[in-house]
Amino acid sequence: MKLWEGRTDGRVDESVHKFMASLPFDVRLFREDIEGSIAHARMLGAQGIITPDESNLIVDGLTRILAEMETGSFRFEPEDEDIHTAVERALTVMVGDAGKKLHTGRSRNDQVALDMRLWCIRRIDEMVAAAKRLQSVLVSIAERHTDAVMPGYTHMQHAQTVTLGHHVMAYFWMLERDRGRLLDCRTRTDVMPLGAGALAGTTYPLDREFVARQLGFSRVSENSLDTVSDRDFALELVAACALIMTHLSRLAEEIVLWSSQEFGFIELADEFTTGSSIMPQKKNPDSAELIRGKSGRVVGDLVSLLTTMKALPLAYNRDMQEDKERLFDAVDTVLGALGVMAPLLETARFQTERMSRAAGTGFTAATDIADYLVRHGMPFRDAHHLVGRIVRDCATRGVELDALAPSDWMAYSPLLTPDVREMMTPAASVASRSLPGGPAPSEVRRQIAQARKLLGLSS
Ligand code: ARG
Repeated sequence: MKLWEGRTDGRVDESVHKFMASLPFDVRLFREDIEGSIAHARMLGAQGIITPDESNLIVDGLTRILAEMETGSFRFEPEDEDIHTAVERALTVMVGDAGKKLHTGRSRNDQVALDMRLWCIRRIDEMVAAAKRLQSVLVSIAERHTDAVMPGYTHMQHAQTVTLGHHVMAYFWMLERDRGRLLDCRTRTDVMPLGAGALAGTTYPLDREFVARQLGFSRVSENSLDTVSDRDFALELVAACALIMTHLSRLAEEIVLWSSQEFGFIELADEFTTGSSIMPQKKNPDSAELIRGKSGRVVGDLVSLLTTMKALPLAYNRDMQEDKERLFDAVDTVLGALGVMAPLLETARFQTERMSRAAGTGFTAATDIADYLVRHGMPFRDAHHLVGRIVRDCATRGVELDALAPSDWMAYSPLLTPDVREMMTPAASVASRSLPGGPAPSEVRRQIAQARKLLGLSS
């Protein structure tokens, strides 16, 4: 027997039932579904739409069902189509006719919107906490390495010197924006949908504010049609997830590169790597690779959900049932990736001597020398040309800039007095870039203090 039978005989072919059922995945909404129903039943009682006894019976029954679901002893029946129908069926078996009154003034359309919003708010809070945890790991790495020079890259070529502290803090700010996006999305998700009914509200004197208060929502929705057809909150959340994964994927990519023999900038703790079944020497950064790889599926979740929604007329359409797996997958993937990235970085060893050696190669001091010439009166474009020529000569000879003798420098320009060699070192280069936002250790320490404040850590 189907909950909705009447207009039709409720008989559906086994394979059709399986195709349409959402229970296998929306069972994850059981807490939100039952808490929402408890709030609705209390309100029905308070408003005199059902009697106080009926309301109490329903609330007790739902509380027992919740406990059964928590412990795994709840028995689903083959005819259960989704979590909403499973709960109502079990409630009616348990408390009799009162159970049949639970759905008064409600539709599965506003019910599923409620469940989804509650679920999203809870997961947002978990993701914000997980992002924060990773951010604090980044801050503590940065604190230990404000002076550790390394090459900064553009086009994957040595460009100018930075520090490891400055480099990892770049990821802190990405995650800070991610956290902001999640919290932004949370405010728009924090809207109580019940009362929208199937699409056109309801004739019962429901107290929507009461339900909102019970469930901790800040406000109630404004338009019943919009309420049951809106999945913006899920889309926004999956978009925020895709961006988080994009950031984590870039970080993962650098970890993979840095683990290579060519870089040798990082060594991961054993538990984040795997060996090869054939090559005994291998220690592969698989966990970072998987974070990078899983970013693809979350981008897919976003495209999939946008495509599902893009041509749906108002109001609810069954297509929208497809929102759940995409949303769940995106959130699960982000929580998993954040949960791995934090300890992976916390336990990694940074090979700062190798970074420092690399910083001294590849002509990263070229801009500093040009700036030196400018400080001594040469127009920047002329300085750029001259240093370009010096670099080309060194590259032809196969030497670095520090191989040039004082007389070599003077031969290029009388402005290039011996002290040019002092400001050429990676440490001097970094120290001189002390503008707000620059890599100078003093400036990175200021950045870190700001970051600690944002995380609510003591400075
Ligand atoms: N399982 C459905 C979903 O997830 C619940 C809403 C069904 N509503 C309906 N009128 N068929 O979207």
